[in-house]
Amino acid sequence: MGMGLKTLIGAACALVIATPLAAFASSPTLTRADLRDGVDLSGTWRYSVDPYRDGLAGFHRGAPGPGHRRYDDVDVDALTRTKPTALYEYDMDRSSTATLPQGWIGHDPTLRHYQGLMWYQRRFDAPALKPGQRAFLRFEAVNYTAKVYLNGKPVGEHEGGFTPFSMEVTDALRASNNQVTVGVDSTPQADGVPPPVTDWENYGGVTRPMRLVITPGTFIDDAWVRLSKDGKIAATVKLDGAQAANQEVHVRVAELGLDIAGRTDAQGVLNVSAPAPKRLARWSPESPKLYDVVVQAGDDRMTDRVGFRTIETKGSEILLNGKPIFLRGISIHEEELGDTPARTITEAGARALLSEVKEGLHGNFVRLAHYPHSEITTRLADEMGLLVWSEIPVYWLVDFANPRTLSLARGMLADNIRRDRNRASIILWSVANETPITEARNSFLYQLVDDVRALDDSRLVTAALLTDRKTVDGRPLMGLNDPLADKLDVLSANTYNGWYSDDALDTLPDMAWKATDKPLVFSEFGADALAGFSDPVLMRKFSEDFQKRYYEKTLAMARKIPTLRGMSPWILKDFRSPRRQHPVYQQGWNRKGLISPTGRRKPAFFVLRGFYDEKAASQ
Ligand code: GCU
Repeated sequence: MGMGLKTLIGAACALVIATPLAAFASSPTLTRADLRDGVDLSGTWRYSVDPYRDGLAGFHRGAPGPGHRRYDDVDVDALTRTKPTALYEYDMDRSSTATLPQGWIGHDPTLRHYQGLMWYQRRFDAPALKPGQRAFLRFEAVNYTAKVYLNGKPVGEHEGGFTPFSMEVTDALRASNNQVTVGVDSTPQADGVPPPVTDWENYGGVTRPMRLVITPGTFIDDAWVRLSKDGKIAATVKLDGAQAANQEVHVRVAELGLDIAGRTDAQGVLNVSAPAPKRLARWSPESPKLYDVVVQAGDDRMTDRVGFRTIETKGSEILLNGKPIFLRGISIHEEELGDTPARTITEAGARALLSEVKEGLHGNFVRLAHYPHSEITTRLADEMGLLVWSEIPVYWLVDFANPRTLSLARGMLADNIRRDRNRASIILWSVANETPITEARNSFLYQLVDDVRALDDSRLVTAALLTDRKTVDGRPLMGLNDPLADKLDVLSANTYNGWYSDDALDTLPDMAWKATDKPLVFSEFGADALAGFSDPVLMRKFSEDFQKRYYEKTLAMARKIPTLRGMSPWILKDFRSPRRQHPVYQQGWNRKGLISPTGRRKPAFFVLRGFYDEKAASQ
């Protein structure tokens, strides 16, 4: 690439960096939309596969004809009875049905490797809107892009498979027989986030709940309530609507006798705080106390259950409520237990996974990899008492020089933080995973770190970095050699010596690590094992014996690192990955799980639990 073009792109990046953050988040946030009036649109939908995207463009790529537009507000059967010459090559009302939310692999397993456009449609009746009320369609997640139509009219689009989005439909809604159509396209994008090549299943589809949400004309769009480091209960409340400015707002925590009030500014935002009462019970994994918070603004009322705690670093320590803590964790993908997962996380499904972390491994921490997980999971972590690492899928080879990619990542980060910043369990926002170090990547990630600081000064920032390995006096010296480290609060390393290297497992305990002046976390280490494959003599890779010995030796190395403050080994459960095709050991699954797809615990599971029991006893 010539200097000229590089400079031009550099300038474009700079231009994008100058754009205010608010431009990147999808609006409105509609926090706690699940509690608002409306219609749950989960359930039976019709679907129609469209690999050549005929629903979007004709055979010479012009406008699509009526016989292909799945989103048209028509009853095809009735229409063709009155006009027999009409030619329709689809009929949504008589297409196959699917129960949503779930990836399409769930309702049609033959679609496992289908990456393309799929149309979903259903009909629903809506409550009559009272004067001034507003209506929104809200989707918790659609992977990867979504085009949404209501009663034949386009009402919005969204890109990004793991964060919520809403579109206002007040004027397009009718009292009965509303027809909502979603064109979901899972095709990986070269300039997308994540990039086309990852190490997880690309579950295309409407993967999380969706609903029609009804609000007052002016409503509480976002209410962030937290315990600040200087001992205050602080609230940032944002209203949406014509009366948002100069509106009286109350933030009440009855159990603490708190009623913090104030008026919103011209932008409809209120920042207010009050000293935290002495009797405040702080949230922690051992005592996950949640308070009922009620926010009142005019005739709108929003409730949430919030835990109050502080998280900070001091030198190389991580302090939870002022006390040093070791993060006894594990990583998980968003994939339910069972042989045929479809990325359909229910409360029971999330509880089954998180119970394996807390009750199974005696853990206090979970890395929700590699993208924002369902709100069901983060709310459950609050209730069960698990600390959380949350991240966006800026993973491996993202198109870092592309301004569009940067704005996508910034939007996902803002949407993730706005959705979850009331979750006491979340202590770390991570901006990247194993990204190759270039100038473009550095400025891309520096921007994301700055965005986190601007959106949420109450949590820590990290990134999963690639390790640097040197030989000093004939011995391996591990460390992190990444300019991003200076911007992070917690240094996290993905380290796989002994699995992605020929190192004999017995050499692992003597591998030294360069001291760090900040907390170090092992965000990943792991080895594959096919559950039930025992090989005690040869100790081949993929045997349970190898995985057990790998954990024993890696943990022996970990014990010697003075500034290691936590770990989230890779990974709790075997997970689907098209990159893993060994015909005996993998069959399209990454086998680094400590439990099998159906939850069978492998011997290494108990090695990690033993290590965590040791750590808990010494805290
Ligand atoms: C990488 C990556 C994971 C991947 C894992 C593996 O570090 O972060 O997404 O699944 O290693 O290779 O199994």
